[in-house]
Amino acid sequence: MFLFDAWYVAAMDRELTNLPLPIKILNERIVLYRQTDGTAVALEDACAHRKLPLSMGRIQGDDIECGYHGLVYNATGECVRMPCADRIPKRARVRSYPVVSRYGLLWIWMGSAERADASTIFRVEHWGHPSWGMTQGDAMTVDCNYLYMTDNLLDPSHVAWVHRSSFGNAACESTPVQVAASESGVIASRWMNAVEVAPIYVPFMPFQGLCDRLQHYEVRYPSHALIKAVFVPAGEGGVDAERRAAAFIMDSYNFLTPVDAGHTRYFWFQMRNVFPNDEQLSSLLGEGVKSAFEEDRAILNAVQQSFADTRTPNIDIAIDAAPLRFRRRIAQLIQQQQPQGVPASG
Ligand code: FES
Ligand SMILES: [Fe+2]
Repeated sequence: MFLFDAWYVAAMDRELTNLPLPIKILNERIVLYRQTDGTAVALEDACAHRKLPLSMGRIQGDDIECGYHGLVYNATGECVRMPCADRIPKRARVRSYPVVSRYGLLWIWMGSAERADASTIFRVEHWGHPSWGMTQGDAMTVDCNYLYMTDNLLDPSHVAWVHRSSFGNAACESTPVQVAASESGVIASRWMNAVEVAPIYVPFMPFQGLCDRLQHYEVRYPSHALIKAVFVPAGEGGVDAERRAAAFIMDSYNFLTPVDAGHTRYFWFQMRNVFPNDEQLSSLLGEGVKSAFEEDRAILNAVQQSFADTRTPNIDIAIDAAPLRFRRRIAQLIQQQQPQGVPASG
């Protein structure tokens, strides 16, 4: 069901305060907390003794104390205090997960710790570049399996029906989608020529009139998406369009963290190559994107429910080529991964 040897977003950096934060990822209960120097720690959220969630306990300096009988665990998950006992048994430990703070997000490695390599975290191309502006980003929980969301993020056509007041317009209804696959993921894309600019992009356009518009929908394994929109004056679309002087580019980063089979935590932010320091435009875009994603959430919650409640098989159509390719490959990757047993407890 899930790919374990991968980095997922556990939380936004700003969500983790000085209190323990309980989360669930790939069906595993995890507690996040900060050490005194601010470094984030992720431990299995169940005391080795009577399995009380450690998130119900207290942070004690760099350690966390269970709220039932006071066992204290350090950041590696080792029990370092056991009241009323002469010695601490070796098995008194909980699993700890590698965590890295990057792009304002806390990334967690869900596979074997020795295979965690921070250089494989999804790369955000223009991060920190002074000529690129960004939205603050946000998160929501969607009540569906993450693969319904990867379907959605490999489907440029849905904007014509789901996001008519933001990302889409009538121009997005009928241009066929091209599909490409690589080692890292799948891309569904298309150029639409001499079309109206869709509503959400209008305040950002550096030129007047009709445009050529690229929709580039890319999902990389395990479940992270770059949705790129490129607008150039009509007639200038195609290869190298991004280098045109009047090009407006918006890169939308979308990170999916499966919670369990029926829920997904969704994190996002957007970067743009125009008006980098315009805070008002950033919040306008941030709010517009959030309400568009609420439109996706309503659809996806209903799709999950309807699949659960229906016995007739569904059909696939031409626009499903990219989502199906992604599903086939991730199923293979999941099947090929090493078995995830109960982690050794020392
Ligand atoms: S359940 Fe945690 S110390 Fe007993
Ligand atoms: Fe959408």
